[in-house]
Amino acid sequence: MTHNGTTLDTTSPDMSTKYLGLQLRSPIVASASPLTGDSDQWERIEQAGAGALVLPSLFEEQIEHDAFALDSTLNFGTDAFSESLSYFPEMENYDTGPARHLALVELARQRLTIPVIASLNGTSPGGWVKYAGYLQDAGAQAIELNIYDVIVDPHRSSADVERAYVELVEEVRAEVKVPLAVKLGPWFSSLGHFALALEAAGADGLVLFNRLYQPDIDLDTLDVKPRLQLSTSAEARLPLHWIGILRGFTKCSLAGTTGVHDGADALKLLLAGADVAMTTSALLRHGPGHIETMLSWIRTWMTEREYDSIEQLKGSVSQRNVPDPQVYERANYYQVLQSWRH
Ligand SMILES: Cc1cc2nc3c(=O)[nH]c(=O)nc-3n(C[C@H](O)[C@H](O)[C@H](O)COP(=O)(O)O)c2cc1C
Repeated sequence: MTHNGTTLDTTSPDMSTKYLGLQLRSPIVASASPLTGDSDQWERIEQAGAGALVLPSLFEEQIEHDAFALDSTLNFGTDAFSESLSYFPEMENYDTGPARHLALVELARQRLTIPVIASLNGTSPGGWVKYAGYLQDAGAQAIELNIYDVIVDPHRSSADVERAYVELVEEVRAEVKVPLAVKLGPWFSSLGHFALALEAAGADGLVLFNRLYQPDIDLDTLDVKPRLQLSTSAEARLPLHWIGILRGFTKCSLAGTTGVHDGADALKLLLAGADVAMTTSALLRHGPGHIETMLSWIRTWMTEREYDSIEQLKGSVSQRNVPDPQVYERANYYQVLQSWRH
């Protein structure tokens, strides 16, 4: 075993993992970002050892905006849609974001040997949902539905919001045969209940968690500005907490995302019960080669502790497997506060 992770000998642990019914060669997945949308980076992401790649999202707004042009061009709803993708070079005059996106999925499928997961980003049931089927037809081996939203209407109850999300998942499920993962934020008052509702609606996997981008105030201009900051490792504690809890009662695949910056961050999520650890900020900072560094670190840790495989360690420190399950609950909060010493 080498420490730079470039050479695998016969004693190397088995790094493969099952996620969304797909057998992945490694548990590090490149999550949706401009990096995964750049075809020049795909080879590097694959060579660095990623288990799968999630393409950037196709957004509800993008679809609603451009659907008319694309609809009238491709005569949607026909089974011949996937064939019509090959006519894209002749469609240069149709500047349709969704069409370009579908072509990107098709290209990724041709160029990559690791699974390609397409992402659909929206919040409400509606006509745009049929694009899940188009993403599948373009070659996506799984769909990740990102239900990122900020509910500002004080008259909408949480039950109402959750019902709409569940309906959306049901609609997307009806469009595709490939596995479906749902990427969600952490701000639900009964996350476990909602997770089970998503599973019942047909989700095969949960991606925990979306990272909300909060605005900031510019003190010179008093403008409120969107501010995109990359994450830090400390943020991985939130997905770790919930994956540790949810692993005990959902059959869904679980992906840990937000704050995965090194091998240790990823390993902790796997131990808590994740099937894969997803990473974006670290790859934007260090480049795709960082995946290899992360995998190498995990391999060394496993070898030193004589773990044979990722499957063996997955979930071994989830709530149901630790001697004191209360470490995941409120009781731990009380103890942690009591333990503070000046
Ligand atoms: C510039 C940028 C673009 C992103 N685009 C998408 C996207 O299209 N769809 C999506 O689901 N997540 C998107 N994300 C969120 C990431 O996939 C990821 O969930 C988030 O950055 C948290 O992971 P990290 O801590 O590893 O960065 C984006 C993140 C960044 C920084």
